[in-house]
Amino acid sequence: MLGNQSSLTLYFLPLLQRLWPGFLPGQYRARLVGKQWQTADMLQLSFQVSGRWPGFLPGQHLLITLQHQGRYISRPFSICSPFSLWQSHRQIQLCCKINSAGEFTPLLQQLQNGTVVNISAAQGDFCRQQPTLPTLFVAAGSGITPIASMLLSQRHWLAPVTLYYRCRGSENAALLSELTQLAARQPLFSLMLSDSRTEPAETLQQQLLTDSNDKQFYLCGPAAFMQQIRTALLSSAVKPAQIQQEQFGLAMPLATGHSNDATPLTASFIRAGISTQVTLNPQQSLLQNAEQHGLAPRFGCRMGVCFQCVCDKVSGQVRDLRSGALSGHGAEQIQLCVSQPVTELVIKL
Ligand code: FES
Repeated sequence: MLGNQSSLTLYFLPLLQRLWPGFLPGQYRARLVGKQWQTADMLQLSFQVSGRWPGFLPGQHLLITLQHQGRYISRPFSICSPFSLWQSHRQIQLCCKINSAGEFTPLLQQLQNGTVVNISAAQGDFCRQQPTLPTLFVAAGSGITPIASMLLSQRHWLAPVTLYYRCRGSENAALLSELTQLAARQPLFSLMLSDSRTEPAETLQQQLLTDSNDKQFYLCGPAAFMQQIRTALLSSAVKPAQIQQEQFGLAMPLATGHSNDATPLTASFIRAGISTQVTLNPQQSLLQNAEQHGLAPRFGCRMGVCFQCVCDKVSGQVRDLRSGALSGHGAEQIQLCVSQPVTELVIKL
């Protein structure tokens, strides 16, 4: 089994977690050093990050992993602080919208200063590519966080930049004071607030369209809002390559299928010596496949972070949904939540 093991860390994980409780492979430690409400529901968290954390590009996000009721759960959050804060103090800030009915964000609200959490490396490619070109940023709600990081990190201003910030009144605009100060001291930066209580979305769209010539666009906000703006821009002279949009979470490539024949894939899931054979949907992870057949495997983050869904593959091949890498065909341990079936499988749950 070890011969097929892509990482010995996975094999020795139970032992490592006994030695270092909370240890997760590929994660970094971050200590909470400050909490501050930006608006009634946006909480800004400041973390002192491990010296091993490899840093970030302004606009990127990371996963925070917390332990809750015996399992790990993870969520992505954009870094909202300037690059200089990490460079000078090894600190980063995240602005998190607290949803009191949700599972994760109320836990963030309860964190005490000094608490250590796991964070991932920064990820995502929502970063400013061509600072020499005139740029329009469009943010709505918590979509301001990666855009604020990009703007507050900008050292050399080479072209005009305008931020259209859509919010329900200035009292609900997170990071507004930092951005207002930036606009006051940087003549190439303009801040335009669009109050969703008094200004229809069409008015903002019209402003963007009249201001769109040869501009780069960076959009971040609720999916429906971004789609509306994107559609309006594309229906004018703006080309798709001029528009960048933030996308949170793992970009999971869909399966290209195991073969060209129409024979459905099957897997045998073995638990306590009893084998259950199921037909697999190759477009889904093995965790989703098993759940759809009522098998309820153990899981935590569902993002490949916490390793709680690790189990033994006895035979067959899977694809890692994050990297596209193919496994071997023999016995090895796999993470069900980020493994996609490629061939017939036998798996011990
Ligand atoms: S559920 Fe966390 S790694 Fe699979």
